[in-house]
Amino acid sequence: MRLRTALCDLLGIEYPVLQSGMGSVAGPDLAAEVSRAGGLGIVGGLNQPPDAIRERIRFIRAHTDRPFGVNLWLHSELRPPVDVTTIPPATIAQVHATLNTFRARLDVPAVTAAPPPAPDLVDAALEVILEERVPVFSAAIGLPSADMVTRCHARGVKVVAMVATVQDARDAAAAGVDAIVAQGGEAGGHRSIAAKPIHPEVAMVGTMALVPQIVDVVRVPVVAAGGLADGRGLVAALALGAQGVLLGTRFVATRESTASEFYKKSLLERDADATMVTDAFTGQWARALRNTFAVEYRAAGAPTLPSLLQAVAAQDVFAAAAKRQDGEYFPMYAGQAVGLVHNVPGAGEVVEAIVREAREVLAALGRLGRGDP
Ligand SMILES: Cc1cc2nc3c(=O)[nH]c(=O)nc-3n(C[C@H](O)[C@H](O)[C@H](O)COP(=O)(O)O)c2cc1C
Repeated sequence: MRLRTALCDLLGIEYPVLQSGMGSVAGPDLAAEVSRAGGLGIVGGLNQPPDAIRERIRFIRAHTDRPFGVNLWLHSELRPPVDVTTIPPATIAQVHATLNTFRARLDVPAVTAAPPPAPDLVDAALEVILEERVPVFSAAIGLPSADMVTRCHARGVKVVAMVATVQDARDAAAAGVDAIVAQGGEAGGHRSIAAKPIHPEVAMVGTMALVPQIVDVVRVPVVAAGGLADGRGLVAALALGAQGVLLGTRFVATRESTASEFYKKSLLERDADATMVTDAFTGQWARALRNTFAVEYRAAGAPTLPSLLQAVAAQDVFAAAAKRQDGEYFPMYAGQAVGLVHNVPGAGEVVEAIVREAREVLAALGRLGRGDP
């Protein structure tokens, strides 16, 4: 049974399965393996200096001749990064007061100083994508401009933009992107919105409701993301009018992902209700496994610093937790599909299993449609 959709032809891939470009865990090994298996592997470009991105691209090219993507955040607070000196000292003091309670428990020295400025990397990363003529530029957490899309197209680079609202889908389509990822509220990781809303419930429409509404208003192929982890999810997405799926959480628990062992183990142990949406890790709303850091940060009522300065400020806490293999003080981004993750296979096996299951589900649905037993 053919699972080929127009998205496959557009991107030059065999199966309509995309692996999310997860800045924290999607290195070139993961992306290369997904692409080798016939999906679209996307390597994370977040926080990477230009040479590191070029190295990642070359690694993938050395391992597969199939299409792949590079993911960047286009968030306004990163282009250019927010000037640390504009943040009121009282805000920084409140942030550190809460972080210092965690530091004390992890034997990390207390901190009061403002975090160092975040490096300005996004535009240089985009230049590398253009110079290297990467097959797909995956844009998230902010929309690509029409000019950016035109520059990509001039270099033969396809642009896939991830959105969480119908209006952003309209705007992305108007900018000329080639495909749109509809990110439902179930999704792991950061909400794909350009500006941080005051409340996490904003831009939190579920995948089931969001995908068909976006399909109805844009002409380009739509990819469903959020809460999907197997062949059933792929068939459901196709039924909603999507032309493929993009998976994050499922690929975190693979051999090629760079997530720590304690993170992968937590994914295997936790259920769908184990996640929460928090801004405590980076300053930007994200869905992650509920842990002491996120719960106590919220309870403390402390403010957060702008993207990604909050993560820069808390880096010593995360590093100490990682060293101790302690998931209670480390961001373990995951979506509600976490309860569907029961093993740590190779990423290529994930793609193959999704395709196999989807064919089985489609065959069963075909029998149902024909009224066969
Ligand atoms: C660990 C992790 C890190 C992520 N990092 C990024 C990122 O850097 N850029 C991005 O566009 N999306 C990122 N995402 C979000 C995904 O693109 C996608 O929307 C989401 O994973 C889909 O939902 P799922 O987790 O239920 O599969 C991340 C997701 C996870 C789980």
